[in-house]
Amino acid sequence: MKKQLTIGLFGFGCVGTGLYEVLNKTTLLQASIKHIVIKDLSKKRIIDANYFSTDADRILDDEEINVVVELINDYEAAYEIVTKALKSGKHVVSANKKLIAYYLDELISLAKENQVSFLYEASVGGSIPIIRNLEEYYNNDSLSNINGIVNGTTNYILTKTGEGESFDEALKNAQDLGFAELDPTSDVDGFDAKYKLVLLLKHAFGFTAKQDAVWNYGIRQLKDWDATYAREKGLKIKLLAFGTRINNQVIGFVAPHLIPANHFAFNVENEFNAVVVEALFSDKQLFLGKGAGSHPTASAVLSDISALQFDYAYEYKKSKTEERLTFENDFSLKVYVSATTQEKLDEVEFADTLETYSGQSHSYKIGLIRYSEIQKMDWNAASEYFLAVVPDSVELDTKSILSASESTELIEELS
Ligand SMILES: NC(=O)c1ccc[n+]([C@@H]2O[C@H](COP(=O)([O-])OP(=O)(O)OC[C@H]3O[C@@H](n4cnc5c(N)ncnc54)[C@H](OP(=O)(O)O)[C@@H]3O)[C@@H](O)[C@H]2O)c1
Repeated sequence: MKKQLTIGLFGFGCVGTGLYEVLNKTTLLQASIKHIVIKDLSKKRIIDANYFSTDADRILDDEEINVVVELINDYEAAYEIVTKALKSGKHVVSANKKLIAYYLDELISLAKENQVSFLYEASVGGSIPIIRNLEEYYNNDSLSNINGIVNGTTNYILTKTGEGESFDEALKNAQDLGFAELDPTSDVDGFDAKYKLVLLLKHAFGFTAKQDAVWNYGIRQLKDWDATYAREKGLKIKLLAFGTRINNQVIGFVAPHLIPANHFAFNVENEFNAVVVEALFSDKQLFLGKGAGSHPTASAVLSDISALQFDYAYEYKKSKTEERLTFENDFSLKVYVSATTQEKLDEVEFADTLETYSGQSHSYKIGLIRYSEIQKMDWNAASEYFLAVVPDSVELDTKSILSASESTELIEELS
């Protein structure tokens, strides 16, 4: 039976306002917002001031409120709110990937102990319903790969650099349009995508990856010559979150990839996100949609609220196999590395070289590098270099080559 949901909302920014608007346009849902807690009472809001306060306890101590929706932009404050809400027996819906990636198992345990639901569909891929599909549809252990574009800001920037803009110009345009924040570190250094990958690995394979164990390399160091190289070869550079399971080993990292025209991500442009799921029997399936924005993200929050009417909770069935799984660091990647000088390029230890170029402005090499070698350097801060993975290239134990993040032309059929 459907139950009445009385919501206490934290945050009334881009997504919070969007949620208010989409809730008002939805007739099938028995849900209403009773109170909204924000940070700055002096800001002008689109609804009556009586809704708002800065007092979290107005929501947390209100017994009539049975659902807390957490949509704030501060993960530490969100931790206090979410843990208190779960402990006081309220269901929680959140879009906060950083909070969840940092405290995943603790929050799952708290929800279980207090017999409430903790749902977070909007935290990965915006409007794309990926978490619930991984939980419900792919509810066995047949999944082998999950990878995709999960950060709209960097995808927008890469779309523009692919068209000939410099990284700095493209970032500035993204900031002017409100896609990128003034401090773009979380997006351009791949942290945001990494937090999302941690959640994907949990729901795809039942594996909790410690967020600081997952390598995240972004696009800050992309140079004009890298974009030109890609264009001239008919390739594109895309920031992909990559997850794969090989027997009992899980691999996960975030890095730019140099992809060919038949790759699923090739035509995913601007702020769009796309995730490909690869399973033993169903082969590859593509989820494509708007990865951010007020209404698209609010639509995923709305779906979680709607699921609560029927007492829906993630079961984490695949986590029962988790003790068998290990996070694998012993493999090689095929990569393109460019450097400002040949000397700098020579400092990078390749296990095997497939192609080299040495020029006046820069040099590059394509070849195999051990993952452990890559991890020795802080690539996000290494301004002399740019690295991009060349797909289909995870080589485990240098024996078994796994075909992963491989191309399909699904996107053309879908768009
Ligand atoms: N924007 C997107 O497209 C998108 C997509 C997916 C997920 N998300 C996630 O959704 C969440 C919200 O993002 P957003 O874009 O809506 O952020 P936003 O526009 O910056 O709004 C943040 C809201 O949080 C409030 N706030 C901040 N600290 C608070 C605190 N300690 N207590 C109560 N309220 C507090 C702010 O209050 P004031 O209004 O008073 O400043 C503001 O209303 C984040 O976790 C984000 O990562 C966003």
